Amino acid sequence: MLNDTSSVLNLLRTRKSASAKAMTEPGPSPAQIAEILNLAVRVPDHGKLAPWRFILWEGEARAAFGEVMRARWQALHPDHGAETLDAMRALFLRAPAVLGVVSTAADHPKIPVWEQQLSAGAVCMNILTAATALGLGCQWNSDWVAYDAEMARAMGLSPPERIAGLIYLGTPASPLEDRPRPDAGALLTRWSAP
Ligand SMILES: Cc1cc2nc3c(=O)[nH]c(=O)nc-3n(C[C@H](O)[C@H](O)[C@H](O)COP(=O)(O)O)c2cc1C
Repeated sequence: MLNDTSSVLNLLRTRKSASAKAMTEPGPSPAQIAEILNLAVRVPDHGKLAPWRFILWEGEARAAFGEVMRARWQALHPDHGAETLDAMRALFLRAPAVLGVVSTAADHPKIPVWEQQLSAGAVCMNILTAATALGLGCQWNSDWVAYDAEMARAMGLSPPERIAGLIYLGTPASPLEDRPRPDAGALLTRWSAP
């Protein structure tokens, strides 16, 4: 059984992302969004910098942002046809809600940027766990949108802010299937003195 919420350990053992390509209504309620955000920020954060923030796309905003993505994709790839451009326009319409996690990591006298960025990754993971525990489907994506400077501006980011994740939230349109998981034991070495 995937996404077994009967206990914390069972959820961690069986957690499976949904696919943004197969997500439908209902999306998260306003109360669920608030709960997800409250759980998201409960992460290790060296220096208590809270080096992250959130952007939410819901309803009409997804379509409006779709026009921006389509136009930017066309500017980047003028040779691409209507089908690809329509797919870019529909990117955020695949799910009822898209939650952007912005890493606001910046140079700091004591806390390395790397550690601040890792904290943003932990935020993304907490969102997945929280959303799954609430019975939602979710997927942590980035896509080209997260790596394009023009799109960063369109999302309201200012350097050195970066997208850590664009997390699609909704209801899986079809049953989830697990994927092969790494053999954790094989990844472990025990250090011993040379
Ligand atoms: C930082 C990051 C960015 C990702 N971006 C994408 C993406 O753009 N498109 C995609 O299909 N999967 C992306 N993934 C992978 C999926 O989130 C995830 O690995 C997949 O849904 C498998 O589900 P699981 O969480 O059950 O292993 C990304 C993962 C991470 C950690």
